Amino acid sequence: MVLPDNFIKNWQIKDYDFVQQFKSKKNQVLKLKVITKNNEEHFLVCKSFTNYRKYYQELSTLNKLSKIDAPVPRLLYSSNKIIITEYIDGFLLVDELFKGGNSLINELGKTLERVYNALAVDSYKNNVILGDMNLRNFIIDKNKNKIYRLDFESVEKGHLSKDIGKLCAFCISYDPPFTDYKLNLTKELFDYFKNRFLLSSSFITNEVLIELSNIEKRREIVVPEKVKYNIYKW
Ligand SMILES: Nc1ncnc2c1ncn2[C@@H]1O[C@H](COP(=O)(O)OP(=O)(O)O)[C@@H](O)[C@H]1O
Ligand SMILES: [Mg+2]
Repeated sequence: MVLPDNFIKNWQIKDYDFVQQFKSKKNQVLKLKVITKNNEEHFLVCKSFTNYRKYYQELSTLNKLSKIDAPVPRLLYSSNKIIITEYIDGFLLVDELFKGGNSLINELGKTLERVYNALAVDSYKNNVILGDMNLRNFIIDKNKNKIYRLDFESVEKGHLSKDIGKLCAFCISYDPPFTDYKLNLTKELFDYFKNRFLLSSSFITNEVLIELSNIEKRREIVVPEKVKYNIYKW
């Protein structure tokens, strides 16, 4: 990938290098090291989209959230299906949630509430949701102990129970899936968000079961009937 000329000019970049490629199924996401003319070193992230609609979706959402200082990477540049943001130095929630256990759930709650409130047009309960609740879309910042949200290309209109249901389905099915530990932690997530966002249990369980059936098809795995029945009773 080549950095756009006007970005190089505006930032007064004298040298740059792509130092890491992040895991992404649909896009090219690279960590970028730049050195400016006055020898300042910065780490940035450059995301190159394959789809225009998703690019605009992410851009408009990030723009809105960046402006109000929400827990998202600061938007630095965009043009022609490329978005450049600040690099967040930290750990993916997928690698931390199962170590940290329930101590991170409250931080996740704060981040999501901030984001939903900022995106809501009227009531946040039937409004803009994030769509992709993969735990790789959340980073815990090393210094501040704050959780950032990334990836806004799947933002859509819908009920909050759908996002929370997906979050629970992802949580329970990460490798190794459906262990007692995962089941208990997911139930804690479920109860926490049900109470924080005043949602109905049956709405969320329905969404968890829908997403688990999508996961079964996508990953060609089978969710044990015992697990489904357990969730159904939440
Ligand atoms: N601002 C950022 N700071 C640090 N890492 C990032 C940043 N943006 C993206 N990443 C890394 O790149 C991965 C893919 O980025 P993401 O925006 O989720 O793209 P995709 O839509 O392809 O999933 C993330 O899971 C994360 O590891
Ligand atoms: Mg992502």
